[in-house]
Formats: sequence, structure tokens, C-alpha cells
Amino acid sequence: MIEHILDHRDGEVSDCPSMSHVITGCHILRGNMRFTTFHGDAMNDDQFWHVLESDGIVFIQEGTQRGLSEFLQSFTTWYHHPHEHSAGLTKISPNSLSNSAGSAGFTHLALGLHTDRSTASEPPSILASVMEHASTQGGDSIFCDGQKILKNLKQKGHTEQDIADLRLVGQFGETPMWGQPGKNHYSLRYRDDEVARPATSSREDTLSDLHLLLGRLMMMRHLEQGEGYVLHNHRILHGRTAFKGARSVIRILANVLDSSQHRDLNQGFVLPED
Ligand SMILES: [Fe+2]
Repeated sequence: MIEHILDHRDGEVSDCPSMSHVITGCHILRGNMRFTTFHGDAMNDDQFWHVLESDGIVFIQEGTQRGLSEFLQSFTTWYHHPHEHSAGLTKISPNSLSNSAGSAGFTHLALGLHTDRSTASEPPSILASVMEHASTQGGDSIFCDGQKILKNLKQKGHTEQDIADLRLVGQFGETPMWGQPGKNHYSLRYRDDEVARPATSSREDTLSDLHLLLGRLMMMRHLEQGEGYVLHNHRILHGRTAFKGARSVIRILANVLDSSQHRDLNQGFVLPED
């Protein structure tokens, strides 16, 4: 069974048998890793895709570095990061990187909401993470759904042009905050630190409303050892609160394989019309 699965990594997780099966190759590869919604509802493999596309995030229970790696290899190609410890994989914990610009992730400090690789030419679409060692105090994960931010901005009367005028500006230059790969199709980049700041070339109230919405729509969750998430990095912002203790997180950045029917995640997310 394992050989069958490894030989058929054509990008479709549904190639793996349902997790309701007791003994399958997927189980051997993943151990007991399973998926839930933000509210803790369990799901099978087919529902994984539905929830990732509808909610932008799927949560992990009983995950491990190996289990998450094996799962992601079935439908993604990994994205290399300058701080990675091995190909595509980064261990995020307080370390010697903490003094370099934009490296608050490698400290005990709070890490504001952001999308990963937001100033890169082509940020990865998938961010997966599993808690290797939980903090003893603080270190809560925070999230905010870019789809909800966008919907609220439009409901407040901000136009497509107002939203297109939002930028990220830094030493790298500048880039649109909201890419628009197609009609009702968006791709969010965001960070607000010494590397890049949000800005606008037109209405300042669009920027101030964005900041208000980030605070109002933010969700928080404390992850214990073995818990984690797979999120759509073009849509869901993430960060964490300050913490104490030896908190350590395994992170994998990736893009969906071109052969997958879910490859549109690489372009961004759809904002449903009312
Ligand atoms: Fe991050």
C-alpha cells in the first residue's frame, strides 16, 4: 500500500484512502495525524480540500514533522526559505537569527499578523505548521481571514480602486497588498514591521479601516504539542502572542502541484459575490 501511494503522488489527496480506514498506507506515513475545522469538527481527506478552500485553514491534531511532511509531499512542491533548516522546512524557535531585520519569529516576542514571504516575487500558497514544543506561557497563534477583511472593506464603501491602491512599502520597493489574478479573485500580501509597512496612494481611511478590521476579525488559538494547521497563505494572515518557554514550531512552505485540481489555490482566493 505504501508503494502504491508513493508512486501515485499526482497531487490528489483523495488518492489516499479515507482516514476512517484503520490500516492504510496513509496512516502508516502520517501516524495518528488528523484534521479538524477551526471549531474542532473532524473531517476526512475529501473534506480537507473543501474546508481549505472554503475556510482557508485546516487544523491538525497529533501531527509530527514526519507526518506533516509525508502528507504535504502528496500534493505540493516545497518552497525554499532563506531561514530553512532543511529543504523547505524551517524550525521556528528563539535563536541566533533573532537580531536580523524581520526575524521576530525567532524570538520570544509577539509576531504581528502577516502572510509569509509577503515581499517575495512569488510567495508560497501553502503554509503548514505543527507545534514541536508548546510554550509554558503565552505563544497563542493568531489568525485573520483576508476574505472577510475584503468583504468588510467593500461593505464600508471602499472601491476596487481604493483596495488596489493599498501597498506594501519597504527597502525592497513596493508591491500591491491585494493582487488580483482575475475577476473576484484576490491574493493578499501583508506585514507591518521594519521590512515593509502597509501604505496607500489614495484614501487614508481605507488603510485605517483595514487596521481596524485586522483587530476586530482576529481569531486566537492556543496550540499544544502536536497541534498545528495548514493554511492558504494568499488569504489567511497569521502571527502569535509573546511567550515564555522553549516554544518550537515546524513550518513548511509549499505550492500546490500543477497536476492537482486544487492548483488554483496558488493564484489566490475567490471573493463570493453577494
Ligand atoms: Fe509567518
